[in-house]
This record gives sequence, structure tokens and C-alpha cells, in this order.
Amino acid sequence: MADEILATPSGAILELRLNRPEKKNAITAAMYAALADALTEAANDPRIRVVTILGRDGIFSSGNDLRDFQQSPPLDTNQPVFRFLSAISNFPKILVAGVEGAAVGVGTTMLLHCDLVLAAPSAMFSMPFVDLGLVPEAASSLLLPQLIGPQRAAKHLLLGDPFDAETALRYGLVTDIVIGDLEARVRNIAEAIAAKPPEAVRITKRLIRSNQAEVQARVDEEAALFAGRLTSAEAAEAFAAFFERRAPNFG
Ligand code: COA
Repeated sequence: MADEILATPSGAILELRLNRPEKKNAITAAMYAALADALTEAANDPRIRVVTILGRDGIFSSGNDLRDFQQSPPLDTNQPVFRFLSAISNFPKILVAGVEGAAVGVGTTMLLHCDLVLAAPSAMFSMPFVDLGLVPEAASSLLLPQLIGPQRAAKHLLLGDPFDAETALRYGLVTDIVIGDLEARVRNIAEAIAAKPPEAVRITKRLIRSNQAEVQARVDEEAALFAGRLTSAEAAEAFAAFFERRAPNFG
């Protein structure tokens, strides 16, 4: 497992890389724990000013590991997935994400907590929670409608429609589309921020994201509902259908 999250510090920048390409970077409880721990340490480490989040092999993340969720559903809010959501939504320093290929579920919703998101033209975002018998997480039920309005949020959270990099740019979910070397651009931006006066940067982030209490309350509310949904018959059928590569049947 140690290699499935790569945490590489370099000066004032910590790079976090999802590194499980054989499962399209699906995130297990152990990976959530590693991410949560790395973010907590980075928040407390005075040397770190910026954290970057990357996928690999042309994929950002296929979201929660459905097998892991099925076998050991996180039924209380101390579980690694919820520790990660709390850590990322309260992270006081700058988060820069670089997205190539699929960003499914939490692969998209974690971006709502990143300060700058660069996307390759191949990036494809989706939040198929309802199709899986689940509910939105990471305060996406609050932040997405705030960002794009309830009608468009319904299109992506209820209908589960995927959207591409151009749409994400129009929505304001991503900062820029990068043609060429995405990771080099992520590094450049991280270095530029790391060179700025750190206190001014931190205070500005806090001002931009001034609704932290409301966001944390929604993360918690969704987490309780999400945990309940994981053991529902609807989720059991949806997960089984995914692994059996068939259409689900909800009766
Ligand atoms: N959880 C567990 N395993 C996953 C996974 C996930 N979220 N996403 C992919 N995998 C596994 C597949 O089961 C497959 O495993 P196998 O090789 O042992 O059969 C492997 O990763 C490759 O996935 P595959 O579906 O064959 O790749 P693809 O390129 O055809 O499609 C995705 C990529 C991301 C579009 C597709 O895998 C997908 O839709 N995944 C599920 C996304 C999802 O619903 N996430 C949960 C959101 S809450």
C-alpha cells in the first residue's frame, strides 16, 4: 500500500500522487488514511506552503474503491474517507490539483476544495453518486449548486451526466486547461505561490473560503447519510452491477 499514495516533499511544496493505475486510481481506506495524514502533517509543517495533487498514467481518479466500500463500509465519521474530507476541506495552505483523464466521484468533488485546478484536455468529470445508490459527499451538495446553480448541479448530481474540461472551465471548477505538460504547469504555479509572502497567501485563502463552518457542517451531514446509503439494497445492487459489468436493476 505504501506506494499507492506517493508523498514527495520538495522545498516548500509537497506533491501527493495517486498511484494505483491498475485500478484507475480508485481510493481505498488505506489510501484515504495516507492522504489525510499527509495533509494534516503538511498543515502543521511550517516548511510546506503548497500541496499539489496529481494522478498518473493519464487518469486522476476513479473515485472511492467500490470493492473496499462494499467489504468494509465506513460507517462512522472517524473512518479514513471522512478524515480525508475533513482534512482537505479545512486545509489552510494552498492546494493545486492537476487533472488528466477521468475524475469520478471524489475525484471531482475533492477539486471543489482545491484553490487552483489545472486540467488537461482529456479531463472528464463525473459524480455518479445517485447511480450507485449513494448521496453526494465532500460538501458537493452545497458547493456545486453554489458554483453552477441548482439546475446544472442536478444535471451532474442527479442525472450523473459527465462533463469535459471545457465545461469545467466554463463552470469555474477548473482554473485553466493546459495543452502540453500539465505537471510542469502545476509545478510552476506551486512554485510561484510558494515564493509569495506566506501569511498574506494564507489569510487571502481564508477570506476566499470564508464559509468553512457551513462547509464542514455539510461534510458531516453528508457523511452520516453516505454511511447509511452504503449498506442499502440500492448500493448493493449498483456495486454488484459495476463489478459484473452489467446494467443495474432497481426494480
Ligand atoms: N472501485 C474499485 N475498482 C475500480 C474502480 C472503483 N471505483 N474503478 C475502476 N476499478 C477497477 C475495475 O474493476 C477494473 O478492475 P479489474 O481489472 O480487476 O477488472 C480496473 O479498475 C480497470 O477499470 P475499467 O473499468 O476496466 O477501466 P476503464 O478504463 O474501462 O474505465 C472508469 C475507467 C474510471 C471510467 C471506470 O473504471 C469506472 O467507471 N469506474 C467506477 C467509477 C465509480 O463509479 N466510482 C465511484 C464514485 S463514488
